[in-house]
Amino acid sequence: MTEHPPSLATPYRTHTCGQLRAGDIGAEVRLSGWVHRRRDHGQLIFLDLRDRHGITQVVVDGTDSPAAHDVASRVRSEFVVSVSGTVTARLAGTENARLSTGAIELQTTALEILNEARTPPFYINDPDAPVDESLRLKYRYLDIRREPMQQRLLLRSRLVQAIRQAHHENGFVEIETPTLIKSTPEGARDFIVPSRLQPGSVYALPQSPQQLKQILMVGGVDRYFQIARCYRDEDLRGDRQPEFTQLDLEMSFVDEATVMDFVERMAIEVSQAVTPERPLLEVPFPRFTYGEVMERFGSDKPDLRFGMELVDLAPEIPTPDGVPASGFRVFDDALAGGGRVKAIVAPGLGDAPRSRIDELTETAKRFGARGLAHLALEATGSVKGPIVKFLGDDLAERLCARAGAGPGDLVLIVADGTEVTNEVLGRLRTDLGARLGLADPNVLAYCWVHRFPMYKWDVEGGRWDATHNPFSGVVPEDEALLTTVSGDPSRPSPEDPAGRARALQYDLALNGWELGGGSIRIWRRDLLELSFALQGYSLERMRNMFGAMLEAFEYGAPPHGGIALGIDRWAALLTNQATIREVMAFPKTQSGTDLMLEAPSPPDAGQYADLGLRVVPVEERKA
Ligand code: AMO
Ligand code: AMP
Repeated sequence: MTEHPPSLATPYRTHTCGQLRAGDIGAEVRLSGWVHRRRDHGQLIFLDLRDRHGITQVVVDGTDSPAAHDVASRVRSEFVVSVSGTVTARLAGTENARLSTGAIELQTTALEILNEARTPPFYINDPDAPVDESLRLKYRYLDIRREPMQQRLLLRSRLVQAIRQAHHENGFVEIETPTLIKSTPEGARDFIVPSRLQPGSVYALPQSPQQLKQILMVGGVDRYFQIARCYRDEDLRGDRQPEFTQLDLEMSFVDEATVMDFVERMAIEVSQAVTPERPLLEVPFPRFTYGEVMERFGSDKPDLRFGMELVDLAPEIPTPDGVPASGFRVFDDALAGGGRVKAIVAPGLGDAPRSRIDELTETAKRFGARGLAHLALEATGSVKGPIVKFLGDDLAERLCARAGAGPGDLVLIVADGTEVTNEVLGRLRTDLGARLGLADPNVLAYCWVHRFPMYKWDVEGGRWDATHNPFSGVVPEDEALLTTVSGDPSRPSPEDPAGRARALQYDLALNGWELGGGSIRIWRRDLLELSFALQGYSLERMRNMFGAMLEAFEYGAPPHGGIALGIDRWAALLTNQATIREVMAFPKTQSGTDLMLEAPSPPDAGQYADLGLRVVPVEERKA
C-alpha cells in the first residue's frame, strides 16, 4: 500500500538490500544483512546479501581489497555482515531480471562480520525446499527469514492496517479490553489463570470480548472495534488455534442490515487494498437464509466458486396413491418416512472405476450416510449403475436429467432425513470440489448466511442450546415463538415453539470457510432472561456468569449488534493457505504445543506454592 517507503537508513546501512537500481551506479553505499549465498571463484568472491527487502549481489575482489577478501573467505551462509562499496553496473549479460536489484552489483571496499551463524537445519535460500513443519516451528525464526513466510506476515500486517483504516474512516473507536477476565462462553472451554492475590480464585482468558463490547455499548461508545486476542481450549484443526485474533466490532442503534452493509463494504475495501489482483466473485455479496443455503449447498459456509448444487430428486419420483414408488426401496422408504432423496453431480466421473465409487461411498458413510447410490451417465448418454435395475431406464434417465448431469458425469444420491442428506451431500461436494480442483484459487467468493435457528434441542441437557451466541436476538416476527409448551420457560421441551424461532444472526463465509459471525443482540433485559431461561440457565447461574452485563442492561442499553471476523483465517484465505498456522508468526501444533518455546511446561514448585496450588497425580485423579 505504501508507494514510497520511508528511508530505512541507519548507522549500519545507507540502503536496504532491495533498494539499489541502475540510477544508483557510482554511489558509495553501505548495506547490512544475512549472507544468502556465497560463491567462491578464488580471486573473486560473490555474496548474495539478503534482508527482508531483497537481495543485492556483492563482489569482493582480492586484488582491490585484500582485507575484505580475507573476511569474505571466512563468511558462511546466514552470517550477518556489513558491506561498504561502490554501486556498479553488472557486466552485460549477467543482469538478473528476477531480482529488483538485478541491474547492479556492489564492488566491496570493506566487509565486516557482525555475527556468525550455525549451519541452519534447513535451507533458507530455497523457498520450495520441502521442510517438515515441526522443524519449521522449532526454528521459527529461521522459517520467518524465508521468503514465503515473510510475504505472508507482510500481507497480514497490511490486512490489519487496512482494517484499522476502514474502521477509523467510519467513526469506530479502537478500544482494548482486558484478557484477565471472567468466563465469556463461546462454546469452548476456558483457559484459566489462577490468582496469587486471591488464592483459590481464577481469571478466565476471554473466548471473545463479547460481554465487554456489549457493556461498551451501554457506556455510549457507539462504534467499537478491536484487533482482539481470544483464547479457546478446544480441539485444534487447520482453521483453529487455541489462541487467535479477531477483528471484533460492535455498533449501537443499528439493525441487521446496518451491520452487514458496513462489514460488506469494509471487507470489499480491505480485500481490494490487500489483494487487488484477486477478483471478487460477486458484489454485493450473495445473502442466503440458513434454510436456503443448507438446501442448495448442504453447508452454512458454502464455497461459491463452483456449482455442484444439491438437487432434490423427489419431484421425479412417482407417488401413485401418495406412496413413493421409485422401485428402489431405499429411496421409497426415505420419502415415505418424511425424508429426502437428493443428489449432486460429479463432473467427468461417469467412467469412475468401482474402487473410486467404493471410496466415495466410504467417505459418505464417514460423513454420516447409511449409503451412497449412484447413476453413471456414459459418453453415449445411457445410464449405468446397480440401482438402474430397480428404477428402470426411464426413471433413471429422468433422475439424471433432473440432477443436471451430462454425458460422462456421475450422479451421487443420498436418501435419508433432511439434515443428514444435506450435510452428507454438502461435505461430499466440498470434498469433490477440492479433489477435482473445481474452485478458481484466484477468486474471492464472499457470501452471507443469516436467519439461523435461535436454538437447537440439547437432548442430554434437556434444554434449548443457542446455535451461536447466547446473546443473539430473535427475528422480530418470531419473538412470540419464544415460549414453551409447558408455559414455563425453565421447563422446556423439544416440541416448544421456541425451536422454530430464527435468530438475528449472520455469518460471513469466504471460499468455503466461516470467516466471521455476529448478531443483533437481545438488548432488553426481560427478553434476555427469557432466552437464557430457555437455554437452561437459572436466575442464579445467570447472575453468577453474566451479572455485570445484566446489571449494565438495567441502566439503559441501546439497541446494538456486531460481529467478529477471524483475522488468522482471513489472512490464510487471502494467501491461499490450507492452515492458519501459515499466517501466524508463532503458532501452536495440533496438540497445543509451542515447539520453539517448549510451552506448556510444568511451573516450578515456587509458583505452585505462591498460587496455593498442588498437582494431583494422574492416578489419584482417575480414582
Ligand atoms: P465466533 O465464535 O463465531 O463469534 O468467532 C468469530 C470468528 O473467530 C474465528 N475463530 C477462530 N479462529 C481461529 N481459531 C479459533 N479457535 C477460532 N474460533 C473462532 C472464526 C470465527 O468466525 N463473540 C462472537 C462474535 C459476535 O457475535 O460478535 C464470536 O466470537 O473466524
Ligand atoms: P443396500 O440395499 O443396503 O444393499 O444398498 C443398495 C445400494 O444403495 C448401495 O449402493 C448402497 O450404498 C446404497 N444405499 C444404501 N443406503 C442408502 C441411502 N440412505 N442413501 C443412498 N444410497 C443408499
